[in-house]
Amino acid sequence: MIKNIGYIVFILFGAACSSEKDEYVPIGQNPALEFTIPSNFPEPSYNITLNTPTEKGFELGKKLFYDGRLSSDGVISCGFCHIQDFAFTHHTHIVSHGVNGALGTRNAQPLHNLAFMKEFTWDGAATHLDLQPIIPITAEVEMNESFSSILQKLEEKPEYVELFAEAFEDQKINSENLLKALSQFMIMMISSNSKYDKIERNEGSVFTANEAAGFELFKSKCASCHEGTLFTDQSYRNNGLAVDPQYNDIGRNRVTGLASDLHKFKVPTLRNIELTFPYMHDGRLKTLTDVLNHYSDGLVDSETLDPVFKNTDGAVIGIPMTEEEKDQIIDFLKTLTDDDFLNDNRFSEF
Ligand code: HEC
Ligand code: HEC
Repeated sequence: MIKNIGYIVFILFGAACSSEKDEYVPIGQNPALEFTIPSNFPEPSYNITLNTPTEKGFELGKKLFYDGRLSSDGVISCGFCHIQDFAFTHHTHIVSHGVNGALGTRNAQPLHNLAFMKEFTWDGAATHLDLQPIIPITAEVEMNESFSSILQKLEEKPEYVELFAEAFEDQKINSENLLKALSQFMIMMISSNSKYDKIERNEGSVFTANEAAGFELFKSKCASCHEGTLFTDQSYRNNGLAVDPQYNDIGRNRVTGLASDLHKFKVPTLRNIELTFPYMHDGRLKTLTDVLNHYSDGLVDSETLDPVFKNTDGAVIGIPMTEEEKDQIIDFLKTLTDDDFLNDNRFSEF
Protein backbone atom coordinates (compact mmCIF):
# COMPACT_ATOMS: atom_id res chain seq x y z
CA MET A 1 0.00 0.00 0.00
CA ILE A 2 2.84 2.37 0.79
CA LYS A 3 4.51 1.95 -2.58
CA ASN A 4 1.12 2.61 -4.03
CA ILE A 5 0.90 5.95 -2.26
CA GLY A 6 4.23 7.03 -3.66
CA TYR A 7 2.94 6.26 -7.11
CA ILE A 8 -0.26 8.24 -6.67
CA VAL A 9 1.67 11.11 -5.18
CA PHE A 10 3.81 11.22 -8.26
CA ILE A 11 0.82 11.33 -10.56
CA LEU A 12 -0.91 14.00 -8.52
CA PHE A 13 1.94 16.30 -7.82
CA GLY A 14 4.54 15.51 -10.42
CA ALA A 15 2.97 17.99 -12.79
CA ALA A 16 2.08 20.56 -10.17
CA CYS A 17 5.59 21.22 -8.88
CA SER A 18 6.75 23.14 -11.90
CA SER A 19 4.09 25.79 -11.40
CA GLU A 20 4.67 26.28 -7.70
CA LYS A 21 6.20 29.66 -8.21
CA ASP A 22 2.95 30.96 -9.68
CA GLU A 23 1.21 30.94 -6.33
CA TYR A 24 -2.51 31.42 -6.55
CA VAL A 25 -3.30 34.69 -4.88
CA PRO A 26 -7.00 34.63 -4.16
CA ILE A 27 -8.83 37.77 -5.16
CA GLY A 28 -12.28 39.31 -5.27
CA GLN A 29 -15.03 36.99 -4.13
CA ASN A 30 -12.62 34.45 -2.72
CA PRO A 31 -10.68 36.17 0.07
CA ALA A 32 -7.96 34.35 1.97
CA LEU A 33 -8.96 33.23 5.46
CA GLU A 34 -6.96 34.44 8.39
CA PHE A 35 -4.72 31.64 9.62
CA THR A 36 -3.68 32.79 13.07
CA ILE A 37 -0.94 30.96 14.96
CA PRO A 38 -1.88 30.96 18.66
CA SER A 39 0.80 32.83 20.63
CA ASN A 40 1.68 29.72 22.67
CA PHE A 41 2.08 27.52 19.54
CA PRO A 42 5.17 26.79 17.42
CA GLU A 43 5.46 27.66 13.72
CA PRO A 44 3.29 25.42 11.53
CA SER A 45 4.87 22.57 9.55
CA TYR A 46 2.34 22.97 6.75
CA ASN A 47 3.47 25.49 4.15
CA ILE A 48 0.49 27.82 4.11
CA THR A 49 1.83 29.91 1.24
CA LEU A 50 1.55 26.92 -1.12
CA ASN A 51 -2.09 26.27 -0.25
CA THR A 52 -3.53 29.32 1.46
CA PRO A 53 -6.96 28.61 2.92
CA THR A 54 -9.60 30.74 1.20
CA GLU A 55 -13.28 31.20 1.88
CA LYS A 56 -14.31 29.03 -1.06
CA GLY A 57 -11.53 26.47 -0.66
CA PHE A 58 -12.50 25.99 2.98
CA GLU A 59 -16.20 25.75 2.08
CA LEU A 60 -15.38 23.16 -0.57
CA GLY A 61 -13.13 21.21 1.80
CA LYS A 62 -15.84 21.13 4.44
CA LYS A 63 -18.47 19.97 1.93
CA LEU A 64 -16.16 17.19 0.75
CA PHE A 65 -15.31 16.20 4.32
CA TYR A 66 -18.98 15.57 5.08
CA ASP A 67 -19.90 14.01 1.72
CA GLY A 68 -20.51 10.25 1.43
CA ARG A 69 -19.74 10.54 -2.31
CA LEU A 70 -16.09 10.11 -1.37
CA SER A 71 -16.85 6.45 -0.59
CA SER A 72 -18.01 3.55 -2.73
CA ASP A 73 -21.27 3.02 -0.82
CA GLY A 74 -22.16 6.71 -0.76
CA VAL A 75 -22.46 6.69 3.03
CA ILE A 76 -19.04 6.80 4.65
CA SER A 77 -17.79 10.38 4.68
CA CYS A 78 -14.67 11.56 6.47
CA GLY A 79 -17.03 12.99 9.09
CA PHE A 80 -18.55 9.55 9.67
CA CYS A 81 -15.37 8.43 11.43
CA HIS A 82 -14.21 11.87 12.53
CA ILE A 83 -17.01 13.35 14.70
CA GLN A 84 -16.59 16.89 15.99
CA ASP A 85 -18.18 16.32 19.43
CA PHE A 86 -15.39 13.85 20.16
CA ALA A 87 -12.57 16.01 18.74
CA PHE A 88 -13.16 14.37 15.35
CA THR A 89 -12.66 10.78 16.51
CA HIS A 90 -15.01 7.84 15.96
CA HIS A 91 -16.86 7.74 19.24
CA THR A 92 -17.43 4.31 20.83
CA HIS A 93 -15.67 2.53 17.99
CA ILE A 94 -12.59 0.68 19.12
CA VAL A 95 -11.33 0.31 15.58
CA SER A 96 -12.79 2.25 12.68
CA HIS A 97 -15.81 1.17 10.72
CA GLY A 98 -15.85 1.69 6.97
CA VAL A 99 -18.03 0.80 3.98
CA ASN A 100 -20.52 -2.03 4.52
CA GLY A 101 -19.44 -2.26 8.18
CA ALA A 102 -15.89 -3.35 7.25
CA LEU A 103 -13.62 -3.13 10.28
CA GLY A 104 -10.21 -1.50 10.19
CA THR A 105 -7.44 -2.26 12.63
CA ARG A 106 -6.85 1.15 14.16
CA ASN A 107 -8.63 3.71 16.29
CA ALA A 108 -9.53 6.93 14.44
CA GLN A 109 -7.23 9.79 15.41
CA PRO A 110 -8.48 13.19 16.49
CA LEU A 111 -8.22 15.96 13.88
CA HIS A 112 -6.94 19.24 15.27
CA ASN A 113 -3.75 21.28 15.00
CA LEU A 114 -2.79 19.22 11.95
CA ALA A 115 -1.00 22.21 10.41
CA PHE A 116 1.59 21.76 13.16
CA MET A 117 2.21 18.06 12.56
CA LYS A 118 5.00 16.72 10.36
CA GLU A 119 3.71 13.21 9.67
CA PHE A 120 0.31 11.59 9.85
CA THR A 121 -1.40 8.39 11.01
CA TRP A 122 -0.29 6.18 13.88
CA ASP A 123 2.80 5.01 11.98
CA GLY A 124 3.59 8.13 9.97
CA ALA A 125 2.73 6.54 6.62
CA ALA A 126 1.61 9.92 5.24
CA THR A 127 4.36 12.53 5.12
CA HIS A 128 2.15 15.43 4.00
CA LEU A 129 -1.36 16.42 5.03
CA ASP A 130 -2.41 16.80 1.37
CA LEU A 131 -1.61 13.11 0.84
CA GLN A 132 -3.18 11.70 3.99
CA PRO A 133 -6.77 11.41 2.64
CA ILE A 134 -5.56 9.09 -0.14
CA ILE A 135 -5.26 6.38 2.52
CA PRO A 136 -8.87 6.38 3.81
CA ILE A 137 -10.35 7.08 0.38
CA THR A 138 -8.70 4.09 -1.28
CA ALA A 139 -8.56 1.67 1.69
CA GLU A 140 -10.93 -1.25 1.18
CA VAL A 141 -12.00 -1.21 4.83
CA GLU A 142 -12.53 2.54 4.92
CA MET A 143 -14.03 4.36 1.90
CA ASN A 144 -13.02 1.82 -0.76
CA GLU A 145 -13.28 4.34 -3.61
CA SER A 146 -11.13 5.51 -6.53
CA PHE A 147 -10.33 9.10 -7.38
CA SER A 148 -11.61 8.77 -10.95
CA SER A 149 -14.99 7.59 -9.71
CA ILE A 150 -15.22 10.37 -7.09
CA LEU A 151 -14.30 13.04 -9.62
CA GLN A 152 -16.99 11.74 -11.96
CA LYS A 153 -19.59 11.91 -9.20
CA LEU A 154 -18.54 15.48 -8.34
CA GLU A 155 -18.68 16.59 -12.00
CA GLU A 156 -22.36 15.68 -12.00
CA LYS A 157 -23.17 18.09 -9.17
CA PRO A 158 -23.43 21.74 -10.31
CA GLU A 159 -22.63 23.04 -6.82
CA TYR A 160 -19.26 21.25 -6.95
CA VAL A 161 -18.51 22.49 -10.45
CA GLU A 162 -19.11 26.00 -9.16
CA LEU A 163 -17.17 25.65 -5.92
CA PHE A 164 -14.08 24.13 -7.56
CA ALA A 165 -14.16 26.94 -10.12
CA GLU A 166 -14.39 29.59 -7.42
CA ALA A 167 -11.79 28.01 -5.14
CA PHE A 168 -8.97 27.25 -7.57
CA GLU A 169 -7.31 29.28 -10.25
CA ASP A 170 -7.38 26.47 -12.82
CA GLN A 171 -11.07 25.94 -11.92
CA LYS A 172 -10.68 22.19 -12.34
CA ILE A 173 -12.31 19.30 -10.55
CA ASN A 174 -9.24 17.13 -10.11
CA SER A 175 -7.54 15.09 -7.39
CA GLU A 176 -5.00 17.75 -6.57
CA ASN A 177 -7.64 20.40 -5.94
CA LEU A 178 -9.80 17.95 -4.00
CA LEU A 179 -6.90 17.15 -1.66
CA LYS A 180 -5.92 20.80 -1.33
CA ALA A 181 -9.48 21.74 -0.39
CA LEU A 182 -9.59 19.02 2.28
CA SER A 183 -6.31 20.37 3.67
CA GLN A 184 -7.62 23.94 3.68
CA PHE A 185 -10.51 22.75 5.84
CA MET A 186 -8.30 20.68 8.12
CA ILE A 187 -5.53 23.22 8.70
CA MET A 188 -8.07 25.73 9.96
CA MET A 189 -9.06 23.25 12.68
CA ILE A 190 -6.97 24.68 15.49
CA SER A 191 -7.70 23.74 19.06
CA SER A 192 -6.04 26.33 21.29
CA ASN A 193 -8.64 27.57 23.76
CA SER A 194 -8.60 25.01 26.54
CA LYS A 195 -8.25 26.06 30.15
CA TYR A 196 -4.60 25.00 29.90
CA ASP A 197 -4.05 27.42 26.96
CA LYS A 198 -5.74 30.28 28.79
CA ILE A 199 -3.47 29.72 31.75
CA GLU A 200 -0.40 29.44 29.55
CA ARG A 201 -1.29 32.75 27.87
CA ASN A 202 -2.11 34.46 31.19
CA GLU A 203 -5.71 35.03 30.21
CA GLY A 204 -7.05 34.98 33.73
CA SER A 205 -7.79 31.29 34.37
CA VAL A 206 -6.13 29.39 37.21
CA PHE A 207 -5.61 25.68 37.90
CA THR A 208 -7.30 24.10 40.91
CA ALA A 209 -4.88 22.63 43.47
CA ASN A 210 -5.32 19.13 42.00
CA GLU A 211 -4.87 20.30 38.40
CA ALA A 212 -1.71 22.19 39.38
CA ALA A 213 -0.33 19.11 41.17
CA GLY A 214 -1.28 17.00 38.13
CA PHE A 215 0.55 19.39 35.79
CA GLU A 216 3.74 19.10 37.85
CA LEU A 217 3.48 15.29 37.82
CA PHE A 218 2.75 15.34 34.10
CA LYS A 219 5.84 17.44 33.41
CA SER A 220 8.09 15.02 35.27
CA LYS A 221 6.50 11.71 34.18
CA CYS A 222 4.87 12.20 30.77
CA ALA A 223 6.16 15.30 29.01
CA SER A 224 9.38 13.71 27.75
CA CYS A 225 7.17 12.17 25.04
CA HIS A 226 3.92 14.17 25.26
CA GLU A 227 6.02 17.29 24.90
CA GLY A 228 5.29 21.01 24.72
CA THR A 229 2.10 22.74 23.79
CA LEU A 230 1.16 20.14 21.15
CA PHE A 231 1.60 17.39 23.75
CA THR A 232 3.70 15.29 21.39
CA ASP A 233 7.33 15.36 20.37
CA GLN A 234 6.13 13.73 17.12
CA SER A 235 8.45 10.77 17.58
CA TYR A 236 7.57 7.07 17.38
CA ARG A 237 7.85 5.06 20.60
CA ASN A 238 6.87 1.77 22.14
CA ASN A 239 4.94 2.51 25.33
CA GLY A 240 4.71 -1.11 26.42
CA LEU A 241 1.36 -2.28 25.06
CA ALA A 242 1.24 -6.06 24.62
CA VAL A 243 1.19 -7.05 20.96
CA ASP A 244 -2.41 -7.80 20.04
CA PRO A 245 -2.39 -11.21 18.33
CA GLN A 246 -5.57 -10.33 16.41
CA TYR A 247 -3.95 -7.47 14.48
CA ASN A 248 -0.24 -7.94 15.15
CA ASP A 249 0.15 -4.26 14.22
CA ILE A 250 3.88 -3.69 13.67
CA GLY A 251 3.52 0.11 13.80
CA ARG A 252 6.34 2.32 12.51
CA ASN A 253 8.18 -0.75 11.20
CA ARG A 254 5.52 -0.97 8.46
CA VAL A 255 6.89 2.30 7.04
CA THR A 256 10.62 2.05 7.67
CA GLY A 257 11.19 -1.72 7.69
CA LEU A 258 13.65 -1.23 10.57
CA ALA A 259 13.66 -3.84 13.32
CA SER A 260 14.30 -1.00 15.77
CA ASP A 261 10.88 0.46 14.82
CA LEU A 262 8.84 -2.67 15.57
CA HIS A 263 5.68 -1.86 17.56
CA LYS A 264 6.47 1.82 17.81
CA PHE A 265 3.61 4.29 17.26
CA LYS A 266 3.45 8.02 16.95
CA VAL A 267 3.27 9.75 20.32
CA PRO A 268 -0.28 11.14 20.17
CA THR A 269 -1.30 14.63 21.20
CA LEU A 270 -3.30 14.68 24.42
CA ARG A 271 -5.42 17.70 23.58
CA ASN A 272 -9.15 17.02 24.08
CA ILE A 273 -8.12 13.61 25.45
CA GLU A 274 -11.13 13.54 27.78
CA LEU A 275 -13.33 13.01 24.69
CA THR A 276 -11.27 10.82 22.40
CA PHE A 277 -11.79 7.48 24.18
CA PRO A 278 -11.18 4.63 23.70
CA TYR A 279 -7.41 5.03 23.81
CA MET A 280 -4.25 3.81 22.05
CA HIS A 281 -3.76 2.92 18.36
CA ASP A 282 -6.25 0.06 18.59
CA GLY A 283 -8.57 1.60 21.16
CA ARG A 284 -7.86 -1.14 23.69
CA LEU A 285 -8.06 1.06 26.81
CA LYS A 286 -11.46 2.48 27.70
CA THR A 287 -10.74 5.19 30.25
CA LEU A 288 -7.97 7.53 31.34
CA THR A 289 -7.72 5.52 34.57
CA ASP A 290 -7.01 2.44 32.45
CA VAL A 291 -4.28 4.42 30.66
CA LEU A 292 -2.59 5.45 33.91
CA ASN A 293 -2.88 1.91 35.30
CA HIS A 294 -1.17 0.74 32.12
CA TYR A 295 1.76 3.11 32.70
CA SER A 296 2.09 2.20 36.40
CA ASP A 297 1.53 -1.55 36.27
CA GLY A 298 0.72 -2.86 32.81
CA LEU A 299 3.86 -2.39 30.71
CA VAL A 300 5.11 -5.34 28.71
CA ASP A 301 8.84 -5.60 28.03
CA SER A 302 10.17 -6.05 24.49
CA GLU A 303 13.24 -5.25 22.39
CA THR A 304 11.87 -1.81 21.49
CA LEU A 305 10.22 -0.79 24.78
CA ASP A 306 11.18 2.83 25.42
CA PRO A 307 14.15 3.04 27.82
CA VAL A 308 12.40 5.66 30.01
CA PHE A 309 10.29 2.81 31.41
CA LYS A 310 13.33 0.84 32.64
CA ASN A 311 15.75 1.32 35.49
CA THR A 312 19.54 1.25 35.06
CA ASP A 313 19.57 -2.55 35.47
CA GLY A 314 17.17 -2.85 32.55
CA ALA A 315 14.22 -3.95 34.70
CA VAL A 316 10.81 -2.62 33.67
CA ILE A 317 9.58 -0.22 36.32
CA GLY A 318 6.97 1.66 34.30
CA ILE A 319 5.92 5.02 35.71
CA PRO A 320 5.38 4.61 39.44
CA MET A 321 2.34 6.63 40.61
CA THR A 322 0.02 6.55 43.63
CA GLU A 323 -3.76 6.49 43.09
CA GLU A 324 -3.93 10.12 44.19
CA GLU A 325 -1.25 11.11 41.70
CA LYS A 326 -3.14 9.34 38.91
CA ASP A 327 -6.29 11.27 39.78
CA GLN A 328 -4.36 14.53 39.78
CA ILE A 329 -2.86 13.79 36.36
CA ILE A 330 -6.34 13.04 35.03
CA ASP A 331 -7.61 16.32 36.48
CA PHE A 332 -4.82 18.09 34.62
CA LEU A 333 -5.54 16.22 31.37
CA LYS A 334 -9.14 17.41 31.52
CA THR A 335 -7.92 21.02 31.35
CA LEU A 336 -6.93 20.22 27.75
CA THR A 337 -10.58 20.04 26.69
CA ASP A 338 -11.40 22.91 24.36
CA ASP A 339 -15.14 23.56 24.25
CA ASP A 340 -14.73 26.47 21.82
CA PHE A 341 -13.21 24.08 19.29
CA LEU A 342 -15.70 21.27 19.92
CA ASN A 343 -18.63 23.64 19.38
CA ASP A 344 -17.13 25.80 16.63
CA ASN A 345 -19.75 25.67 13.92
CA ARG A 346 -17.27 26.64 11.22
CA PHE A 347 -16.29 22.97 11.39
CA SER A 348 -19.76 21.47 11.94
CA GLU A 349 -21.67 19.58 9.31
CA PHE A 350 -24.84 21.64 9.82
C1 HEC B 1 -13.51 4.35 8.24
C2 HEC B 1 -13.16 5.42 9.15
C3 HEC B 1 -12.39 6.59 8.58
C4 HEC B 1 -12.72 7.38 7.51
C5 HEC B 1 -13.92 7.25 6.59
C6 HEC B 1 -11.72 8.41 7.44
N1 HEC B 1 -10.80 8.26 8.45
FE1 HEC B 1 -9.26 9.49 8.86
N2 HEC B 1 -8.54 8.17 10.18
C7 HEC B 1 -9.15 6.98 10.51
C8 HEC B 1 -8.21 6.13 11.25
C9 HEC B 1 -8.49 4.74 11.78
C10 HEC B 1 -7.00 6.86 11.32
C11 HEC B 1 -5.67 6.35 11.85
C12 HEC B 1 -5.05 5.65 10.62
C13 HEC B 1 -3.76 4.92 10.81
O1 HEC B 1 -3.05 5.16 11.77
O2 HEC B 1 -3.42 4.10 9.94
C14 HEC B 1 -7.24 8.14 10.64
C15 HEC B 1 -6.30 9.14 10.52
C16 HEC B 1 -6.54 10.34 9.86
C17 HEC B 1 -5.61 11.46 9.83
C18 HEC B 1 -4.25 11.52 10.50
C19 HEC B 1 -4.31 12.32 11.76
C20 HEC B 1 -2.98 12.44 12.45
O3 HEC B 1 -2.91 13.08 13.51
O4 HEC B 1 -1.97 11.90 11.96
C21 HEC B 1 -6.19 12.43 9.06
C22 HEC B 1 -5.60 13.79 8.72
C23 HEC B 1 -7.46 11.92 8.60
N3 HEC B 1 -7.64 10.65 9.14
C24 HEC B 1 -8.31 12.60 7.76
C25 HEC B 1 -9.36 11.97 7.09
C26 HEC B 1 -10.05 12.52 5.93
C27 HEC B 1 -9.78 13.87 5.29
C28 HEC B 1 -10.98 11.60 5.54
C29 HEC B 1 -11.90 11.64 4.35
C30 HEC B 1 -11.27 11.72 3.06
C31 HEC B 1 -10.88 10.50 6.49
N4 HEC B 1 -9.89 10.74 7.39
C32 HEC B 1 -11.71 9.40 6.48
C33 HEC B 1 -10.46 6.63 10.23
C34 HEC B 1 -11.16 7.15 9.15
C1 HEC C 1 8.15 6.98 26.19
C2 HEC C 1 7.19 7.91 25.71
C3 HEC C 1 5.90 8.09 26.49
C4 HEC C 1 5.74 8.43 27.82
C5 HEC C 1 6.80 8.70 28.86
C6 HEC C 1 4.30 8.55 28.04
N1 HEC C 1 3.63 8.26 26.88
FE1 HEC C 1 1.63 8.27 26.63
N2 HEC C 1 1.84 7.52 24.76
C7 HEC C 1 3.05 7.25 24.12
C8 HEC C 1 2.81 6.56 22.89
C9 HEC C 1 3.85 6.12 21.87
C10 HEC C 1 1.41 6.38 22.79
C11 HEC C 1 0.65 5.67 21.66
C12 HEC C 1 0.83 4.18 21.85
C13 HEC C 1 0.00 3.31 20.98
O1 HEC C 1 -1.16 3.58 20.72
O2 HEC C 1 0.54 2.27 20.54
C14 HEC C 1 0.84 7.00 24.00
C15 HEC C 1 -0.52 7.06 24.26
C16 HEC C 1 -1.07 7.74 25.33
C17 HEC C 1 -2.48 7.98 25.52
C18 HEC C 1 -3.59 7.56 24.55
C19 HEC C 1 -3.83 8.67 23.53
C20 HEC C 1 -4.81 8.34 22.46
O3 HEC C 1 -5.09 9.23 21.64
O4 HEC C 1 -5.31 7.22 22.39
C21 HEC C 1 -2.62 8.69 26.68
C22 HEC C 1 -3.91 9.21 27.28
C23 HEC C 1 -1.30 8.86 27.22
N3 HEC C 1 -0.37 8.28 26.40
C24 HEC C 1 -1.01 9.53 28.40
C25 HEC C 1 0.23 9.52 29.02
C26 HEC C 1 0.46 9.95 30.37
C27 HEC C 1 -0.58 10.56 31.28
C28 HEC C 1 1.80 9.74 30.62
C29 HEC C 1 2.54 9.96 31.92
C30 HEC C 1 1.99 9.26 33.07
C31 HEC C 1 2.39 9.20 29.41
N4 HEC C 1 1.40 9.07 28.47
C32 HEC C 1 3.73 8.88 29.25
C33 HEC C 1 4.29 7.59 24.62
C34 HEC C 1 4.57 7.96 25.93
